[in-house]
Amino acid sequence: VKIIPPTTEEQTPAPSKDSIAAFRRTVKAFFRKNRRPMPWRETADPYHIVVSEIMLQQTQVERVWDKYLAFVRRFPDFQALASARLQEVLALWQGLGYNRRAIALKKISETVIAAHGGALPASVETLTTLPGIGHATASSIAAFAFNLPSVFIETNIRRVFIHHFFDDRTDVHDNEILPLVEATLDRKHPREWYYALMDYGTALKKELPNPNRRSKHYTKQSKFEGSTRQKRGAILRFVLAHPNSTIHAIAKHLSLAPADILPTTGRLVTEGFLQLTKKRYHVV
Ligand code: ADE
Repeated sequence: VKIIPPTTEEQTPAPSKDSIAAFRRTVKAFFRKNRRPMPWRETADPYHIVVSEIMLQQTQVERVWDKYLAFVRRFPDFQALASARLQEVLALWQGLGYNRRAIALKKISETVIAAHGGALPASVETLTTLPGIGHATASSIAAFAFNLPSVFIETNIRRVFIHHFFDDRTDVHDNEILPLVEATLDRKHPREWYYALMDYGTALKKELPNPNRRSKHYTKQSKFEGSTRQKRGAILRFVLAHPNSTIHAIAKHLSLAPADILPTTGRLVTEGFLQLTKKRYHVV
């Protein structure tokens, strides 16, 4: 299916029954063969789902895995987290970054205990009243904890829809994607369906030039693209392939100015990953 950009008058045309069915088959066939096991997919305990979804907001699955297990072992339910000392919560959060998420998670627990009788509210609307929970996170919690057919987009889901339904487009707005998420949703098995979309989207990222570059929301979703961690990886890969590169050659390859990467190359030298000889970098 190709979708033509809507004008202000038009809505995105609804996909045909056949194209919906074909899309579902593709996603499900992928998932049958490539399902990724994850500890938080073994449970529907609302507390465990909240912890994992908050951790997964800005951190990748591999980094979350062990942190999640340690966290729920030490704080097994809302009550335990609500009455914990923030110091200790932050200590367990070490390595995940964005500490405000840990503070929000503790506040969520306190609110669930104080205002909701210890039970996580099961509606998207009420979930969004909790700290650190926006519409997408509330919807993912509703799907994963309560198997509700909520409609939402996150980065991997976005990639799937842009790839399948907006092949020739740039600047795809999430408002154009949402009706398709709704139209294709498996209402009987939302939880499994969203796992499938997320796993399929993760695989597409490895296979394709990132389809999310064609999202109107791309830069906002991708702070990581300019991050030090990403620069370090790109610099090391380039110097490995091109020993004795100058700072200018490396910067040119990354489409950056030398000043943008000097702090990072400097650190790589200090840490022993790179060596600098006569103004040229090579891998040690
Ligand atoms: N499985 C459940 N929630 C997930 C998420 N936010 N990202 C990736 N996989 C998930």
